[in-house]
Amino acid sequence: MANLNQRLRRLWHGGDYNPEQWPREVWTEDVEMMVDTEYHVATLGVFSWVKLEPSEGEFDFEWLDDVIARLTASNRYFILATPSAAPPAWMAKKYPEIIRTGADRVRRLHGNRVNYNFSSPIYQEKCRIIATKLAERYGNHPNLLAWHVSNEYGGADYSAESVEAFREWLKVKFNRSLEALNEAYWTAFWSHSFTDWSEIDPPGGPYGETAIQGLTVDWRRFTTDQTVAFMEIEAAPLRAITPHVPITTNMMGTYPELDYRKFASHLDFISWDSYPAFTGPMSEARTWIAAAFRHDLMRGLKRGTPWLLMEYSPGSSNWYESMALKRPGVHRFEGWQAVAHGADGVQYFQWRQSRGSQEQLHGAVVSHGSSREARVYQEVRQLGHELAEWPEIIGSVPKPEVAVIFDWESWWALEAACGPTQRPKRYPETATDYYGYFWQAGIPTDVIGMDDSLEGYKIVVVPMAYSIRPGFAERIEEFVAGGGHVVFTYLSGWTDENSLVFTEGFLGPLRNVLGITSEEIDVLPRETKVPVFYNNEQYAAHDFCELVHPTTAEILAEYAGEFYAGRAAVTQNGFGKGTATYVAFRHDERFLRDLLDPLVRRAEIVHPFPGELPDGVTVQVREGETTTYFFLLNANAHGATLSTNDGEVIHLPPYGVEIRKLDLAGAMDE
Ligand code: GLA
Repeated sequence: MANLNQRLRRLWHGGDYNPEQWPREVWTEDVEMMVDTEYHVATLGVFSWVKLEPSEGEFDFEWLDDVIARLTASNRYFILATPSAAPPAWMAKKYPEIIRTGADRVRRLHGNRVNYNFSSPIYQEKCRIIATKLAERYGNHPNLLAWHVSNEYGGADYSAESVEAFREWLKVKFNRSLEALNEAYWTAFWSHSFTDWSEIDPPGGPYGETAIQGLTVDWRRFTTDQTVAFMEIEAAPLRAITPHVPITTNMMGTYPELDYRKFASHLDFISWDSYPAFTGPMSEARTWIAAAFRHDLMRGLKRGTPWLLMEYSPGSSNWYESMALKRPGVHRFEGWQAVAHGADGVQYFQWRQSRGSQEQLHGAVVSHGSSREARVYQEVRQLGHELAEWPEIIGSVPKPEVAVIFDWESWWALEAACGPTQRPKRYPETATDYYGYFWQAGIPTDVIGMDDSLEGYKIVVVPMAYSIRPGFAERIEEFVAGGGHVVFTYLSGWTDENSLVFTEGFLGPLRNVLGITSEEIDVLPRETKVPVFYNNEQYAAHDFCELVHPTTAEILAEYAGEFYAGRAAVTQNGFGKGTATYVAFRHDERFLRDLLDPLVRRAEIVHPFPGELPDGVTVQVREGETTTYFFLLNANAHGATLSTNDGEVIHLPPYGVEIRKLDLAGAMDE
């Protein structure tokens, strides 16, 4: 399989380009400004269907030929999208069934986007045809870098075709045994047993079933599989006609509705769209830790290979609660941060602001008025010129010794459960908190799934692993027995993959490696805290206090309040050559640091930066064949000073980024 960067061996810099919205005079200016900004890669065609096929079966590629000719004449490259994210109005009028049906079972009208019925045979056929046409016409173009299949797949469809496909999916899952389905869904409860497959409907929405968690989770599994199958309808002709052109689709980080891990094997490289929510001050390290977590989550879908930041905003995004301007330097920081986490290119939404319609206020490289003096334009230009100086970075990858497990299926099961709280359960936030400890410690971290290999890691953190799949506990045992250190938190191992509580009780098959059992969980009212003692220091539990009983584990921390005072709040079990820690309560950052610091020392994790890192400063690492790249990143709005153990002092300006490299043969230099 081909991957990123074979044809353009530099860090890519470019993004969505929508010339179809503009007259041709503007295209001339566009290309000139692209040259000026080192904008080398234009993503074309994302929403171009009606221009490419103005009426059924009549195709017009002349305008796109012209755009591509202009780009290539100026030594620009392009990524070409299939246009399936937004079907033309004529198609919806003639074939209304191609439009999406919502959870309320009402079919939508034409408009908006990602508003299609992915189960509609007609829509599938139309998508196959247009993808084939594009591949035939442009597949051999030397400046075509990649296929961008569709745009941000998302949501579910409740049309008759999708409902039928769901029933077929269930028949396969349960081996055509309704008895097995009823057992897995515990349907004797409230007389919900099914006696025929046709009785089963998708759950959720205003009128649907919400009481059977197994059904809810399976609907999400099905929606993922159905989306992947739809993606394959578009990808198959591209792959067949142009096996040399890599295929990707742009994902959305911790998007809750699709299990992106299921997409990975169908793609040649991973790409995603990062829009950090600037709801708090941009200078909060938390904003950038959350962005870093998502970069590593996306990178982890195809571990050990470079990925592409397909979109980020050159300015601010118009769908934020408030359109705060990116402070000077933030744009550069954001771009280099992605590279530090393994991106081989950074791209934008979008090149030129549209005059009308929904995104006329969204940030763009070229803003209304087309000024080259504009601050945003200048910052993009600066980054473009900087990226151009580092082609050697491509192909190098982070190789972390630590992994955090983030699992969509377990998240769905946790969300589907009625309890133990109706307040937000904060699964992604908790995973990000644990990840954040390592970020702040300057320890590069992978984010992986429950089915991924644990080989090569020294520490694996598994926050809130509510529902676990067969084989997972065994692999954790093997990892720990071999010398690995694992940390689980409260709310782990409550159910199997069908959302049934383990017959032996909470923690189920994890009890062996953890050396504890778990009995119940106290969910604290808002603002209520329970003291916890650890190493003679007092900390506070909030939200969750799980009550566990050590069998073979030792107690590291104790509750010091409530009727469970004196009982275990953190346990650690020696198991083979490693340890398995259970953190039974929700805590703050200070506790996390004090718990994980000794574990990091014990696991002999290598700190890439030889010294203390100030708050909000991290180091990330990419390893090439002969050179290792260290990225020092200051997420603060103020400058930061770092001192190495051998006395060197490094100053980073506000949002400063510095790259240092270590050649295998030599010492660290700039
Ligand atoms: C997404 C889409 C783009 C654009 C941006 C705006 O990432 O893929 O088409 O709408 O959001 O932020």
